[in-house]
Amino acid sequence: MSEESLLELLKTATEARLQSIAPFSNFLVGAAVKTEDGKVYTGCNIESASYGLTVCAERVAIWKALSEGERHFVELAIVADTGTLTPPCGTCRQIIWEFAKNATIILGNLHGETQVVSIKELLPRAFDARFLSGAAKTTAVE
Ligand code: THU
Repeated sequence: MSEESLLELLKTATEARLQSIAPFSNFLVGAAVKTEDGKVYTGCNIESASYGLTVCAERVAIWKALSEGERHFVELAIVADTGTLTPPCGTCRQIIWEFAKNATIILGNLHGETQVVSIKELLPRAFDARFLSGAAKTTAVE
């Protein structure tokens, strides 16, 4: 993946941000994920009046791609209107680790500032399915 390709994906995420439904926080976030075949799926945050049901832009993009059968991701772009670049929340980090581990992540804002990060640095010592298969086989109720 080239810098040009990452910046193009960031532009797509910036456009997707405008679809955000964020009447409670007024914090608009856009995301775009690219597959190894070059297909792009976008996402924006969607808030619920039952606040906890809100879904972040990153997960909307990833769910859309997964539900279309995609499994291999190379890039993920995330855009918000913040001076300090907005990184994915903890829940999204877990989902990125499980489903888009190898994606290069580019963060951006509306002023053209960018930073490239990896999920390995954002979520060190992550929990995943490996631990489930290694767990002791005991039941809670004997
Ligand atoms: N949000 C995202 O969509 N992605 C992030 O990385 C951080 C937070 C959303 C969730 C909620 O709609 C709003 O931003 C404020 O937390």
